[in-house]
Amino acid sequence: MNNSYITPFVKWAGGKRQLLLQIKERMPEKYNNYYEPFVGGGAVIFELLPANALINDINKALINAYRQICNTPETFLKAVNKLDKEMWEDGKEYYYSLRDHYNDKLMRAEYDAELAALFVFINKHCFNGLYRVNGKGLFNVPYNNTRIVSVDENAIMEISKYLQGVMIMDGDFEVACKEAKKGDFVFIDSPYAPLNPASFESYTKEGFDIESHQRLANLFDELTDRGCYCMLTNHNTELINELYGGKGYKMDVVSVKRMINSDASNRVGEEIIICNY
Ligand SMILES: C[S@@+](CC[C@H](N)C(=O)[O-])C[C@H]1O[C@@H](n2cnc3c(N)ncnc32)[C@H](O)[C@@H]1O
Repeated sequence: MNNSYITPFVKWAGGKRQLLLQIKERMPEKYNNYYEPFVGGGAVIFELLPANALINDINKALINAYRQICNTPETFLKAVNKLDKEMWEDGKEYYYSLRDHYNDKLMRAEYDAELAALFVFINKHCFNGLYRVNGKGLFNVPYNNTRIVSVDENAIMEISKYLQGVMIMDGDFEVACKEAKKGDFVFIDSPYAPLNPASFESYTKEGFDIESHQRLANLFDELTDRGCYCMLTNHNTELINELYGGKGYKMDVVSVKRMINSDASNRVGEEIIICNY
């Protein structure tokens, strides 16, 4: 397989591109199956390209895009190229009309190739590449005023080939990890714990609250008992240190530049990489 083409096909909040080196340095030398229960844009799996993998995300529109690219890449490409080609003189008006159409389809749960194409198109043409939904679950990010081609066709074909061997799920992280066994590797990049608990950011309409972080820490302990290799990344916050500290896990603090953050004072921060091996 020509791996050089494979990179994430969407920009994603919390994308792990910056941390790839630190993540790779800490990988177990050998493992059986690969699990990524919060795959997002897939920066890590597309870097590692593990042979036996399961990916999951609770965002159904995102997972629909993975599935369409996996199962019918030509149909997906045709739909996305049509959107690029039809971009009117007024890109802004076009973007907003597609955003409405995308939200209509979301509300009707039409998870098809057209929805995947719209998802990728608006991700590439929206402000900051952020996927953000309002209280009703509707995508509400404004236009970014650029005209770019939404996809690299060769990359999509290579990603499609790679995904043939990957199990793709669209539910909760706990369900996704049910079958993980001794010797499997689980890479865990959940939504961030709040830097400031009063301004809790959420990635999906479901949100990821303190209880979810606690539930995840319990799963981490359980996977450890099962003999899985687990690596987890998050902000270096009090909550995360409380949940994972004092249990014999390896906890390394690393500096990062924060890309998607409107508050410039928050652009350099600390992340923590936690390993149970
Ligand atoms: C920090 S992002 C992952 C970023 C990813 N590592 C990347 O490089 O793009 C966290 C992801 O968790 C997903 N998520 C939120 N709650 C979830 C849940 N309960 N179960 C599974 N996925 C969830 C979000 O939709 C989001 O894509």
